[in-house]
Amino acid sequence: MTELSSKHLLGIKDITADDIQLIFETADNFKEVLNRPIKKVPSLRDITIANIFFENSTRTKLSFELAEKRLSADVINFSSGNSSVKKGETLIDTVNNILSMKVDMVVMRHSSVGAPYFLARNIKANIVNAGDGTHEHPTQALLDAFSIRRKLGDVAGKKVAIIGDILHSRVALSNIFCLQKLGAEVMVCGPITLLPKHIASLGVKVELDVRKALAWCDVANILRIQLERQQIKYFPSLREYTLYYGVNKKMLDALDKEIVIMHPGPINRGVELNSDVADSEHSIILDQVENGVAIRMAVLYLLAGVK
Ligand code: CP
Repeated sequence: MTELSSKHLLGIKDITADDIQLIFETADNFKEVLNRPIKKVPSLRDITIANIFFENSTRTKLSFELAEKRLSADVINFSSGNSSVKKGETLIDTVNNILSMKVDMVVMRHSSVGAPYFLARNIKANIVNAGDGTHEHPTQALLDAFSIRRKLGDVAGKKVAIIGDILHSRVALSNIFCLQKLGAEVMVCGPITLLPKHIASLGVKVELDVRKALAWCDVANILRIQLERQQIKYFPSLREYTLYYGVNKKMLDALDKEIVIMHPGPINRGVELNSDVADSEHSIILDQVENGVAIRMAVLYLLAGVK
């Protein structure tokens, strides 16, 4: 297989296990390019990419921009905060105006679930979802699974616990789809109020006790509490959340095995994850960030080749 099955990357739900393997094999090659003295290839020299971000981002935005520049694409960046969206311009008008500047691909983050699907139906460019509300964050899931594969050799057969605010997390949903497509077993763990009611119907194990989740898994992917998406109180206080669900070194020392710790960022240190774990030999958090550039290069390169 040399081509993706879709001209967009909207969600992991919409792509196949073969697509994911092709992205990983391509990312392996780009990792090698990124370790050369000259880290740039001319693959997307004639392609113009617009990164349009209607929500805050550090890692994803910088990672896409670096990936695009490493592929020699022309890049334009748009953030809604200082744009005419503030004057009432609609999403489709904003994007059509950007596209009239002859843009080939759009990487978009938006707070509304489904916004990239809406764009894909209405414009000709390739669309990459960089996170839509609480729905999906496909490149994060790809880089997470790719990081597990590089650390443990394979994703198939591994036990991955996703711990934290599952209810508001697009990373959780994309990770569940991606890990299951690759043959991993997935558990979600968190306070009952932060677990979607029907989450078990996705075929994941559900655990309320974080110590049991850590004892079960090979890999723990710790998620942040997304206070910005919580209109009501889901637990009494952050202090209480940390007491019951915060992961610290003492908990890892009590296990009879080594586990891998991941976090998509941004970390709220001392809340969901202590620094004695985040900065320890268990953690591959910065490897995830590094792998993100190669994964995004692979996605953009492959989408550009879809007829
Ligand atoms: N992991 C992630 O999406 O981080 P940012 O919000 O900083 O892009």
